[in-house]
This record gives sequence, structure tokens and C-alpha cells, in this order.
Amino acid sequence: MRFKNLLIIIIILTGGVTLSAQTWVVPDDQKAVVAPFKFTPDMQKQGEQIYLKNCQSCHGLMGKDNWAKLTPPPGDLAKEKAQKQTDGELFYRITAGKIPMPEFRNILPEDERWWIVAYIRTFNPNYVQPNPAALASFTGRIVTLAMQYSDPMKKIVVTASEQLKDGKTGLAAGVEVMLFVKRFFGKMQVGDIKTTNAQGLAVFEFPADLPGNKEGYVEVTTMVNDPKSQMKTTPATASFAIGAPTDKPSLTATRAWWSTRGNAPVWIILTYTLSVLIVWGFIFYILFSILKIRKLSNG
Ligand code: HEC
Repeated sequence: MRFKNLLIIIIILTGGVTLSAQTWVVPDDQKAVVAPFKFTPDMQKQGEQIYLKNCQSCHGLMGKDNWAKLTPPPGDLAKEKAQKQTDGELFYRITAGKIPMPEFRNILPEDERWWIVAYIRTFNPNYVQPNPAALASFTGRIVTLAMQYSDPMKKIVVTASEQLKDGKTGLAAGVEVMLFVKRFFGKMQVGDIKTTNAQGLAVFEFPADLPGNKEGYVEVTTMVNDPKSQMKTTPATASFAIGAPTDKPSLTATRAWWSTRGNAPVWIILTYTLSVLIVWGFIFYILFSILKIRKLSNG
């Protein structure tokens, strides 16, 4: 009887040990998964921010070998152990997690998980991104926009480039582009739709009186006008100091009408208090008059 119990305990213990020492296997079909888009410097930058917020606490700063002392060790993702894995493997591990690493499936949207992969790959000089499958089979135009601000002319120059069939990048002519500025509620279009010229350029005049923030910065976005969705496009967003500096209350300002966390505007408080005082004053005046009448009738 005793021996049998001991045997069970031994089986459980060894089972537990092998379980925790288990290597983290990624299913073959997941290994072959590639990102749905080409990684851009912008995605790598965004990926860095997301990494610093969500991963650095355990994995440390990339390439610095200063990961948290956990079991199993998280390791430095800039190093060979992580870098020799496919994009699909990295993406799967980020998505699925493994205790103590959280599963990021519901924490970060799919795009952001790929941006982290894009960032992790910047630490591998030998990395060449596999062709995104969705793009390889896509027959339409694949257009990426960029923006520059020409200071003396107050003009925004939009550049459209396009992925060519031979894998190279070329200038994209004949693309309809739109320009928007960010306002309190949503985006406002600036000027008309413009078509890029043979150099892939479209130039937008910028209204001089458009209000910006305190320093005159305006957030500008450019997008392709493609109502029939025949292209795959990447918009661009940037902040330029082209607006008239304005000190307007922002969405989170404490005394704005729409503010959810702050106080009501002063004039509302004053009007309200005043009307309350007047009503009560009137009530007291009537009470006082009644008392006076009673005194008079008594006397
Ligand atoms: C709570 C700590 C923790 C956090 C936060 C965390 N990880 Fe991990 N991660 C780990 C541990 C521990 C392992 C090792 C797991 C194993 O080997 O069984 C690991 C393993 C990995 C691996 C596999 C590494 C390899 O060499 O095979 C990748 C890739 C990875 N993490 C990416 C990320 C990314 C990206 C984030 C942020 C989005 C992140 N992790 C956040 C703890 C963490």
C-alpha cells in the first residue's frame, strides 16, 4: 500500500518537472505564417513604444541582457535564440504567451503584435522580411504615402510610392490623395482631392488661419481616395507647426462643456447660484410679509 502511494507521488513529481521544463513548441503551420504587410520604419517605431510598455518589464531593454530573473528565463529578444526563429514563431509566442508570460491575443491588436516583430527584427542585421503573402497574390496597386512640409510656401507635399511587381519601389503617378487635419471631433478635409503627378507628388496649399495647438502644431493625415478599394494603401500622419497658435480648451480641459472629469464653466455656476438665491430670497420675502401682516393684525 505504502509503496503504491510512493509510486504515485514519484510519478506526479517527475510529471510536474517534465511539464515545467517542457520546450515551447510552435505548431508547424504557425511557423510559416508571415506578416500581412511590409514592415516600415514607422511600424518599427510604434513597435518600440509597445515593446517598452508591454514587454520590457520582463525581457529588459533590447540587446542589453537585463531581463527579469524569472523561471524559465525570458531572455533578450535581440539575441540569437529569438532571432533565429521565423516571424510566425515570434508572432505565435507573443499571441499565445506561456506562463508567466501573458497571452497578448486580447491585449494587443494583431497589427500591433506584428509591429513588435518589426521592432525586434531591427536588432538583426541579417534579417530579410519574407514577402507578405497577401501582397504577393494581390494584383492591384500597393501604395504608401509620405508627407513633407515646405516651410516658406506653407505647402504640404505628399509623395506616393508604389511596390512594383519586381519587388522594387517606384514613384506612384495618378493616385488620388486627400489631406485631413485633426480637430476636436474627428478629421476635417483640407482642400480638394489631388492627383499625384509623374513624380508621385501632390501639393496642398495650407490655409494660414487654421488653428493649431498652443505651439501652432497641427496633426495632418494624408490618405488615398480609393472608393472602390482597388488598392492597398498606407496613409501617413505627421505633426507640423503650420497652424495659428491657439489656446483653446482641449477635450480634457477641466472647464469645457463636454468635459467628463472637470467642473462646469464658471458662468453656469454663477447663473445657477444667482437664480437659486433669487428664488429663495423671494420665498423669504413672502414669509416675512406674512409675519408682518400677522403682527399688524395682532396689534
Ligand atoms: C511577465 C513577464 C513577461 C512579459 C510581460 C513578456 N514576456 Fe515574453 N517571455 C517571458 C518568459 C518567462 C519567457 C520564456 C518562456 C519559456 O521559454 O518557456 C518568454 C518568452 C518569450 C519569447 C520566446 C523567446 C525565445 O527565445 O524563444 C518571445 C518571442 C517573447 N517572450 C516575446 C514577448 C513580447 C513581444 C512581449 C511583450 C508584448 C513579452 N514577451 C512580454 C516573460 C514575459
